[in-house]
Amino acid sequence: MSDQKKMDCGRRNLVIATSAVGGVAGLGAATPFLASLTPSERAKAAGAPVEADVSKLQPGEMMTVEWRGKPVWILRRTPEQLASLKKVDPEVADPESARSEQPAYIKGEARSIKPEYLVVVGICTHLGCSPSSKLQPGAESGMGADWQGGFLCPCHGSTFDLAGRVFKNKPAPDNLPIPPHTYLSDTRILIGEDSKA
Ligand code: FES
Repeated sequence: MSDQKKMDCGRRNLVIATSAVGGVAGLGAATPFLASLTPSERAKAAGAPVEADVSKLQPGEMMTVEWRGKPVWILRRTPEQLASLKKVDPEVADPESARSEQPAYIKGEARSIKPEYLVVVGICTHLGCSPSSKLQPGAESGMGADWQGGFLCPCHGSTFDLAGRVFKNKPAPDNLPIPPHTYLSDTRILIGEDSKA
């Protein structure tokens, strides 16, 4: 990777981090994050857990929250999106996430505590760019007719399914990381902390 590409990657991630403070992706305006840290925001930047309210998230929608300076995506998957995971099992490099970063309590192809909600760090395991969401299946996505929905890292072309599992023969070696998280209620997720139960 050239220095220019590395810089582009870093710049892209900074833009994402500054514009992704809790809100449905694409709806929030960029905020001058670094210039106006309140004490609690400073704690979050240092690694404190962050809470996400998913009560307004509709099936098929994704929101982004920032945790430890990284974008964490929360995707509320539809039954069709969940069913697509099985279909792409033979095409992904680490279907059971045996070597990928995720808490021990995350099992199976859905890679989630509740199948409906995927909570995943949106940073490519190749060189750290942030992939774009390509949630629409089929040709409409620009990814080809057999695309089931997922994510594309435009930096070097790694693709991931709707559980953040990387497809085979791509530059990214592993699936997108799943952060520690726990449910405080049906619609509140605490990211950065495991369940104490
Ligand atoms: S950073 Fe290279 S494919 Fe994602």
